[in-house]
Amino acid sequence: MARVFVTRKLPGTAVDRLKAEHEVEVWPERLPPRPGDLRARMPDIEGLLSILTDKIHDELLDAAPNLRAISNYAVGVDNIDVEAVTKRGIPIGNTPDVLTEATADLAVALMLAIARRLSEGEALVHRGDWLTWEPTLLLGRDLHDSTVGIVGMGRIGRAVQRRVEGFGARVVYTDVSGGVLLEQLLEQSDFVTIHSPLTEQTHGLINDETLAMMKPTAYLVNTARGPIVDTKALIRALNAGEIAGAALDVTDPEPLTGDHVLLSAPNLLVVPHIGSATHATREAMADMAVDNLLAALRGERMRHCVNPQVYDA
Ligand code: DGY
Repeated sequence: MARVFVTRKLPGTAVDRLKAEHEVEVWPERLPPRPGDLRARMPDIEGLLSILTDKIHDELLDAAPNLRAISNYAVGVDNIDVEAVTKRGIPIGNTPDVLTEATADLAVALMLAIARRLSEGEALVHRGDWLTWEPTLLLGRDLHDSTVGIVGMGRIGRAVQRRVEGFGARVVYTDVSGGVLLEQLLEQSDFVTIHSPLTEQTHGLINDETLAMMKPTAYLVNTARGPIVDTKALIRALNAGEIAGAALDVTDPEPLTGDHVLLSAPNLLVVPHIGSATHATREAMADMAVDNLLAALRGERMRHCVNPQVYDA
């Protein structure tokens, strides 16, 4: 029986399976454990089930001599210093595939919502301003017959492609493994939707220079990671009308405070990192994260591991 720390309550019953085999502490609060809370648990634990807001860095790992496995409740692992963990021979699990369809659904929902001005329409109705049917009220732009530029053609990018082609849109994409140049994609697209992981190469990929390459009628959609878009550049571009709008599920910083300057930019829609937030998806993620951890604690290979080289060492 190993000691395990789960940094947040997870939906479904997966954690019960972990509890059946191990001594498990689940952080009970809505807000994440503070760095001191996490550090205090490090000396004793053998397994950690983290979520994307927990920063796992070298210094924290130094305090965890018994740690044998980290299972991240996310497909992205940019909250973890993967190199530092790998150096210590510790496997890191993640939750790919199960959130692909839900995240792609949200990306398309954001495209439609920003282009068809759903938030503005809802606000208008709620404030009693729906006076009559008007020929020019809340005119938006079409997804059908548009060009959707997909930045990052991995699992989620491909799922978005399937959806928007079903809507009658044309797809261009850019990816490390092929497609068109980012510049070409930005010039051609009516919607630019981001589906790359956050890496050194993608950090700030959408910036003053690249936003200026987008059509003034185009929308930016980000359901990947906030820092791929330079927030200051986006605020400038929206205020200058350089692009038609942006719909974001992820931001930098995250969370955004209610008074953040980004929120006063025009033609902006922001939701709070809910790409995978359906009952079925979040429960499937919990099952996968728990299965990864159970396997590692039994001395078996994690099924979904981002640093499998630890098994070769
Ligand atoms: C992930 O898994 O990386 C998402 O951002 C949260 O589901």
